[in-house]
Amino acid sequence: MSINKKGMPDACRFHVGDAVSVLDSWCDDCVDLTVTSPPYENLRDYNGYSFDAAKMIQAIYRVTKEGGVCVWVVGDKINGGRSLVSFDHAYHARNAGFVVHDVMIYQKKNTPFMRANAYTNCYEFMFVFTKGKPKTFNALKVPTVRHGWERSVSNKGPDAVNRKRPVELKKEKVRTNIWQYAVGLGGSTSDRVAFQHPAVFPEKLAEDHILSWTEAGDLVLDPMCGSGTTCKMAKVHGRRWIGVDVSEEYVEIARQRLPDDTLLSAVL
Ligand SMILES: C[S@@+](CC[C@H](N)C(=O)[O-])C[C@H]1O[C@@H](n2cnc3c(N)ncnc32)[C@H](O)[C@@H]1O
Repeated sequence: MSINKKGMPDACRFHVGDAVSVLDSWCDDCVDLTVTSPPYENLRDYNGYSFDAAKMIQAIYRVTKEGGVCVWVVGDKINGGRSLVSFDHAYHARNAGFVVHDVMIYQKKNTPFMRANAYTNCYEFMFVFTKGKPKTFNALKVPTVRHGWERSVSNKGPDAVNRKRPVELKKEKVRTNIWQYAVGLGGSTSDRVAFQHPAVFPEKLAEDHILSWTEAGDLVLDPMCGSGTTCKMAKVHGRRWIGVDVSEEYVEIARQRLPDDTLLSAVL
């Protein structure tokens, strides 16, 4: 692994190992954005590493630049009731020093999960943790249903007389913080190889956060990169990137998903 002791990490690389140990050799304040999703619940053992959310979040906080962002995508285990582990993670982030800048919803369009005695769960949280105030926010917009010039509904002055006048309704408005994505093959990604990993999140989700919180050339990290979705979208959009995963097998999938540079110049 080519990293100077407590130095700037080399970008555009995958690392196999426990992310807490890998990040420990990096200098402070070097990452602009993390987009990541922890293993399902804290309970699993991945290649002998038991996942410790608090330590992982502390490590991410230390390497995040002032004004940098960490998007933490997490759902609760539902077994009888909801585990609420997602909220534990949000408190770990606050304890580490992050601001809980937003609690966004990742809504799944086609959800396979059913419960006999409760409504079908169709979302996970996307916590947006920031180190201070976010230094970049490129608001994503959606087209408005009505736009152009219309008479205002109300324009009452202090004399209570309603002087309706033409107002211009904008063609676009800033999105809400509920983002909806199709999941599965053709939804999350068209890369068949990705589904050798059990928990791929949508490329579009990673892309939307990368475009929102970074500029070209910024460094994007996924310390639990799995099949490499965040790294792929960072590369496609001209950001530097680093992916870490404890599983060599998953990192091999991620390597296969990254577009080569010839392909990339066609995309950009
Ligand atoms: C929910 S998956 C991430 C999936 C990824 N977002 C994607 O689109 O493929 C969580 C990943 O965390 C990895 N992981 C678990 N503990 C880890 C640790 N201590 N350090 C690095 N990676 C870890 C697992 O191997 C798993 O691939």
